[in-house]
Amino acid sequence: MSTKILSIETSCDETSVAIVVDGREVLSNVIASQIDVHQLYGGVVPEIASRQHLGHISFVVGQALSQAKLSLQDITAVAVTQGPGLVGSLLVGLCYAKGIAFGRRLPLIGVHHLEGHLYANFLLSTPPTFPLVCLVVSGGHTDLIYMRRHGHYRLLGRTRDDAAGEAFDKIARVLNLPYPGGPHLERLAATGAPTIPFPRARLEAGSLDFSFSGLKSAVLNHIHNSQQRGEELFPAAVAASFQAAVTEVLVEKSIEAALTTGVRNLCLAGGVSANSALRSAMGQAAQAHGLQLFVPGVELCTDNAAMIGAAAYYRWRAGAASDAELNAQAMLPLINWAVDSGDNSA
Ligand code: KG4
Ligand code: ZN
Repeated sequence: MSTKILSIETSCDETSVAIVVDGREVLSNVIASQIDVHQLYGGVVPEIASRQHLGHISFVVGQALSQAKLSLQDITAVAVTQGPGLVGSLLVGLCYAKGIAFGRRLPLIGVHHLEGHLYANFLLSTPPTFPLVCLVVSGGHTDLIYMRRHGHYRLLGRTRDDAAGEAFDKIARVLNLPYPGGPHLERLAATGAPTIPFPRARLEAGSLDFSFSGLKSAVLNHIHNSQQRGEELFPAAVAASFQAAVTEVLVEKSIEAALTTGVRNLCLAGGVSANSALRSAMGQAAQAHGLQLFVPGVELCTDNAAMIGAAAYYRWRAGAASDAELNAQAMLPLINWAVDSGDNSA
């Protein structure tokens, strides 16, 4: 019999509920965005985000069930993002998930948000095989993760300061672009040329860590200096040059991670992987090195519940369900749940 997981994601400013069958087939993936509300403040206001989740969650659960043409009686298990994220936002999804699970006596599966992003790759019609390296690049993380099998994660490198998405959002803000800055900056970059030689932080030889704070300062200095000298600023060139600098380092380190670990499968995940310059640069580099690149569809790169349902399926299959003590955690490390005899099949 098939496993139908109802999954809930409320870690930041999207209320999302999905129904995923056997970790592969997405029957529905409803996303209620709060962008309009937070745009007024130039970023996510945590208190407003949790109240918005409260207002949306029942409706979004109903929509996800009706789009999937299912009722709660058909659901096998309930999954929810446990963390990391905004704790007030996480709690809304978590309490709702617990309510459904206990009310209907269903298993409850807590999922790590990054694990969800990573598992968006397993929703592809041809999912990756193990071992693989995944670049998870979002508003809060820039991590290179090695996976030997399901539920087995080894961190190869991470940002030492800003996440790439955070850098996109900060630069977009000083260029007076609306929140969330990443997609707006990408559109502006497409109208300019990468003519400004912003720095690329490669760090010490052999390190797979990232650093974007130097690049961010260089871009801010460039903008302030032009203003002070009364020179004309070319925002499209700034955006294109910034994007090129971020993309170059992300691609270089991802390829290095794949080559040094000897894997042939490279995956991309997280909101910044919606960026078409990054997708195409990574595609070209992967091909040049004989690597197979996996990239989720754009709608599955940014926050959504289908990715949580996909990750939950593999946890559930391995018997790694949660108990009534499951709690929201703003800071949550990505820990291995694979047992030693773990399952390598996709
Ligand atoms: O994964 P995500 O939706 O939420 C987090 O887990 O953080 O990622 C959001 C981040 C934001 O920083 C947003 O600006 C960035 O992803 N982002 C992009 C693009 N789309 C979203 N950055 C660059 N180009 C894009 N097209
Ligand atoms: Zn995310």
